[in-house]
Amino acid sequence: MQYKGFKRRGAVSRVKPFRVMTVMHQAAELEQQGRKIVHMEAGEPDFSTAAPIIEAGKAALDNGLTKYTPAPGITPLRDCLVDHYESRYGVSLPRERILITPGASGGLTLLANLLVAAGEGVLLTDPAYPCVRNFIHLLSAQPQLIPVGIEQNFQPTIEQLDQYCQANTTGLWLASPSNPTGTIIERPHLQAACDWAQKKNCHLLVDEIYHGLHYVDDLPSVLELDQSCFVVSSFSKYFGMTGWRLGWIVVPEPYIEMANILAQNLYISASSIAQYAALAAFEDDTRIILEQRREAFRERRDYLSEALKDLGFILPEKTQGAFYLYADISRFSHDSEEFCADMLQQHGVAITPGTDFGECNGNRFVRFAFTTNMDNLELAVARLQLALQ
Ligand SMILES: Cc1ncc(COP(=O)(O)O)c(C=O)c1O
Repeated sequence: MQYKGFKRRGAVSRVKPFRVMTVMHQAAELEQQGRKIVHMEAGEPDFSTAAPIIEAGKAALDNGLTKYTPAPGITPLRDCLVDHYESRYGVSLPRERILITPGASGGLTLLANLLVAAGEGVLLTDPAYPCVRNFIHLLSAQPQLIPVGIEQNFQPTIEQLDQYCQANTTGLWLASPSNPTGTIIERPHLQAACDWAQKKNCHLLVDEIYHGLHYVDDLPSVLELDQSCFVVSSFSKYFGMTGWRLGWIVVPEPYIEMANILAQNLYISASSIAQYAALAAFEDDTRIILEQRREAFRERRDYLSEALKDLGFILPEKTQGAFYLYADISRFSHDSEEFCADMLQQHGVAITPGTDFGECNGNRFVRFAFTTNMDNLELAVARLQLALQ
């Protein structure tokens, strides 16, 4: 057979590329030309993985722990997560409800296959992490987007859930803290969302991947409120293990068997080396490092949010988690892609256009990731000041 160029057909034709990748690519090209670029586009911690985790990974290699593991993950790691839910949230989970996955991405694809059938609709916020929309498209199902704005802290109201729910809606997927907005769903609102999903007979999935990277006192896991919900989480962000590709999901009891069957089929197991390395993530030494990093992110957030507001960007009252600021640029531009291209090409500041995350108001917003050090943030602010004068 002769391949004359790939033609997208079916569900694949609806999957859109990640614009942040284009920004990264262009930034790399400019760097090759000798330009100094401030990177605020990437959604990953600038810190490398904490030393105790790296050491545990090396030991796993030295000890030959390089084979497939059981599909839901190694028992000691699942037990660490059992303890984690107990100590951090006061939630008792049987180990069987936790499955280790190749990143939250692996968890989300598994859950999409577990929960969503062709023709069904899933409520999502707009803006949201873009891959989620694509996972739903790939199942020939329909992402049903709820536009959320700064005035509502970028999280949906119950009135909106009623308004956007359709006859084919079978699920509601939320994220707290959210990418790209860094806002959280406060406890009473999360409870209300659980109650709404129960009432409508919809499944509720909450992406808790940015838990740990929060700057508020109370960040509930949905499992504290309702054990019938689905959770996806990850070692990527707070635990600083993006490249190890390790995450987990929590499913209600009746779904355990099918979730295991999907795990066996979709990826056999998550990386064994990463799983053994992650055992060290729960040690006291590592915790100290991770908490110091969280404080560094908090300091960056405090600095950058004030500086951006002074420059005329419009931001939520307080960004409560993750490492993103989602800024309204309408005082400067009505085209976020053009704005980001200009900031990068002319001023050497790499940020991501809101069009990556939303279809409704993406042109009015840009995402700043404070995943770079204070010196770089100060340089970015000085450059932006010049650019926007
Ligand atoms: C909200 C959200 N969910 C899931 C993911 C996927 O993360 P990973 O597969 O690295 O665990 C990301 C990555 O940025 C994200 O922002």
